[in-house]
Amino acid sequence: MALILTGIKQLLTFRGGALPRAGAAMRDIGLVKNGAVLINDGLICAAGPEKHVMRHPLAKKAVSRPAGGVVMPAFVDSHTHAVFAEPRLKDFSMRLEGASYKEIKAAGGGIVSSLAAVRKQDPRDMAGQLLKRARKFLECGTGTTEVKSGYGLSLASELKMLRAVKAAARKTPLEMIPTLLAAHSVPPEFKGGAGKYLSYAIEEIMPAVAIEELAVFADIFCEKGYFSPAQTARYLRAAKSFGFLPKAHTEQLSNCGGTLAAARAGAISVDHADFINAGDIKALKTSGAIVTLLPASNHYLGIGKYPPVKKIMAAGVPIALATDFNPGTAPCWNMQFVLSLACLRMKMTPEEALTAATINGACALRLGGRLGTLEAGKQADIAVFEADDYRELCYYFGGNLNKLTIKKGKMVYSSKWRVASEE
Ligand code: NIG
Ligand code: FE
Repeated sequence: MALILTGIKQLLTFRGGALPRAGAAMRDIGLVKNGAVLINDGLICAAGPEKHVMRHPLAKKAVSRPAGGVVMPAFVDSHTHAVFAEPRLKDFSMRLEGASYKEIKAAGGGIVSSLAAVRKQDPRDMAGQLLKRARKFLECGTGTTEVKSGYGLSLASELKMLRAVKAAARKTPLEMIPTLLAAHSVPPEFKGGAGKYLSYAIEEIMPAVAIEELAVFADIFCEKGYFSPAQTARYLRAAKSFGFLPKAHTEQLSNCGGTLAAARAGAISVDHADFINAGDIKALKTSGAIVTLLPASNHYLGIGKYPPVKKIMAAGVPIALATDFNPGTAPCWNMQFVLSLACLRMKMTPEEALTAATINGACALRLGGRLGTLEAGKQADIAVFEADDYRELCYYFGGNLNKLTIKKGKMVYSSKWRVASEE
């Protein structure tokens, strides 16, 4: 049965096809006032002015749902570490006492401190915990998330994490795109031997993950004390030979050359980019990679430095925004908060930020042909916000304006449902 959303105050279609948007095109949100969206079989049939949509042959028989508010594509959160066993509250306390990222790592905190609990967690509990988190993403208007491994760093535990993503994905409407992040840090049993661990990750973990088809992307953390640019090149080359699409965490805490290595390796996206320089931006322009900015991690780490957005925009490199949801640097699953940070801290306009959180996020997952815009033929992944003007999504912070999430044409979250169950 077809469904039609009517009475939309502001409809953001982001029409313009499957490709990532860069420069001035990031400000073209395809705004329609008094809009409607017609959905059939999980796909968009028409999206535009209500008068036009009503003329579609399927519109007469469709179930009508007055949506009101601001309607746009569900967020595509293209960078998360949503599988982890425990929050890192000890790191949090240390941070509040003034310890830096490096000092926390030296004291036994940081990424490897998430390993023990993940390694011993029951696989069903892991999948169940992810399922609960999936609900939180849907509640905030996110329809698709990327989810990384990287807190196991052994064959068994990396497989367990990715199998948990697969198991949870069967039970939630949230679409989860899995990424193998075997090169997140060097696990303690390798005693700092990054090269040796990388050989293990390439020779033991990658083939096993490839055989079970547990990941679409492979990712690496290129940073001093983690993995070098040469190791990034080696890891991503191997990843491609196993059929994974390359991605990398680069220039998060310093400029160490990861962006150049990842761009040369054909990375689909390079993520963080806080310390990116002119040469890096040029290399990204040449390679066609998307740069994914994660301002929630700057906010949490108290890093005053944010990426040079204006320079990236001027060079015509497309920007995506994502939460980076993880226990150590960004315990935040709400893309609306990321929009606020993008505007207030990085001086993106609301239009640029919304484009980065939808179609460009989809492109960072190679899903721009199916997700990220509201155009005929695209998947009906839609979020409806309690607002009169789309800029309110960037203006209010710390809350959730989403009142309805639609995934593949089905209502998967409504703020009214909770009210009903509480009565
Ligand atoms: O994106 N930088 C590496 N990875 C994560 C941090 C993960 C963690 O601290 O647990 C990030 O910030
Ligand atoms: Fe990350």
